[in-house]
Amino acid sequence: MLEIGNKVHDEARQGEAYAPANVGVRQFNKKFYIESYGCQMNFSDSEIIASILEEQGFGATRNLEEADLIFLNTCSIREKAEQTVRKRLSEFRQAKKSNPSLLVGMLGCMAERLKTKLLEEEKLVDIVVGPDAYRSLPVLISQADEGQKAVNVLLSREETYADIAPVRLNSNGITAFVSIMRGCNNMCSFCVVPFTRGRERSRDAYSIVAECNGLVSKGYKEVTLLGQNVDSYYWRNPETGEDVTFAKLLEMVAGISSNLRVRFSTSHPKDITDDVLHTMSAYENICRYIHLPVQSGSTRILQLMNRTYTREWYLAKVKRIREIMPDCGISSDIIAGFCTESEDDHRDTLDVMEQSAYDFSYMFMYSERPGTLAAKRYADDISTDIKKRRLEEIVSMQNRLSLESNKKDLGNIYKVLIEGNSKKNDQHWMGRNSQNKVVVFPKEGNLNPGDYVFVKVHDCTQGTLLGTLI
Ligand code: 5AD
Ligand code: SF4
Repeated sequence: MLEIGNKVHDEARQGEAYAPANVGVRQFNKKFYIESYGCQMNFSDSEIIASILEEQGFGATRNLEEADLIFLNTCSIREKAEQTVRKRLSEFRQAKKSNPSLLVGMLGCMAERLKTKLLEEEKLVDIVVGPDAYRSLPVLISQADEGQKAVNVLLSREETYADIAPVRLNSNGITAFVSIMRGCNNMCSFCVVPFTRGRERSRDAYSIVAECNGLVSKGYKEVTLLGQNVDSYYWRNPETGEDVTFAKLLEMVAGISSNLRVRFSTSHPKDITDDVLHTMSAYENICRYIHLPVQSGSTRILQLMNRTYTREWYLAKVKRIREIMPDCGISSDIIAGFCTESEDDHRDTLDVMEQSAYDFSYMFMYSERPGTLAAKRYADDISTDIKKRRLEEIVSMQNRLSLESNKKDLGNIYKVLIEGNSKKNDQHWMGRNSQNKVVVFPKEGNLNPGDYVFVKVHDCTQGTLLGTLI
């Protein structure tokens, strides 16, 4: 598996059919079926979409056969993500044949990227909606019901869906994602996100706190604050002029309850401040874990990627994190075979990985995306064979680093939040420690998901710490 432990694109969740745990509580006239692809942000958007649709009398179903509407919430980050969705779409042909009134909608990043071209290319599609236009779904559905093709791919400078209470889909009732901002202004040259999700904007801090409060009162124990670049979160209260930075927001959310764990993703190395690091270390319930994508370890490649830092600057940031929080977990995203990458550049990447001692990484082969700066400026000139070989070397480096990192934890005692049964053995619990490592241990006594326990680690694999309750 190339994208191990992937939290950005959880491979296990790609294409997950989504429905709330409490289906059947409310009566709905019509049913929609939604599959989600891509990052956590997209899965979180599906919860906003579900809320908008429920208001209009549409209920979510996991059963494709009983659906009046099928939605694919799509991703464009790599070509493979788009191919997966196209393949899935073709499988709906039969469903549409047997139920001609069935409507098929494409939502999310691929809808935004391809716009009306999607309607031309995929005759099956009735509705195309970009990430900032979900409020118009009810209108678009009635248009499509009347036989018109319905499209809204307008991007917005303001939309944050701040007032919409997401319907939690496929939730374990313990951990939830809370979107704190949308869009991205960074313009990394490889990345399609600025084009599919538009300009960066931050959500009203008080609506974030209210959503987290609501989760706590429903028994949730962990929130992950989501944004493409959380460290550039900035919201000014229009009434009081109060400024809320990301450090301040973290403080506000962490202050809700000491029993609520707070995580966040993703951090851009250029934006994470000492303020944020000090706030993390001041609150026990802000998790000791930072996802700090490096992308490449070569300063020359970083420049072509428009990442705005050098390898030395990145390594200094890692050092600073460990100075302030010696026990902080760090993970990364790495791209193999970006345009013009030489063997020396590649070795620089392996070297930065080793020096940063990542706990885990999400590793990808470069995939050229139409419309991006890299597609316009540079030739995708590294052959697939070389990309593959370099990716394999990156993956084996990470495998070694992950195992080394887990071995260092042997004998340690961690506070673990129980999330549910271990996948492999339902006589074992699975939870995470503050550093975001998965911890598995035998069930003992009367415990439940959502409980905090202390576990002593006595063994490990590359991906898991194994322990016993103390
Ligand atoms: N090709 C390969 N990987 C990419 N990513 C973003 N764009 C591309 C691309 N064109 C990776 C980056 C990013 C993660 C979410 O996906 O590593 O951090
Ligand atoms: Fe998420 Fe980017 Fe994929 Fe859009 S393109 S779903 S923002 S990973």
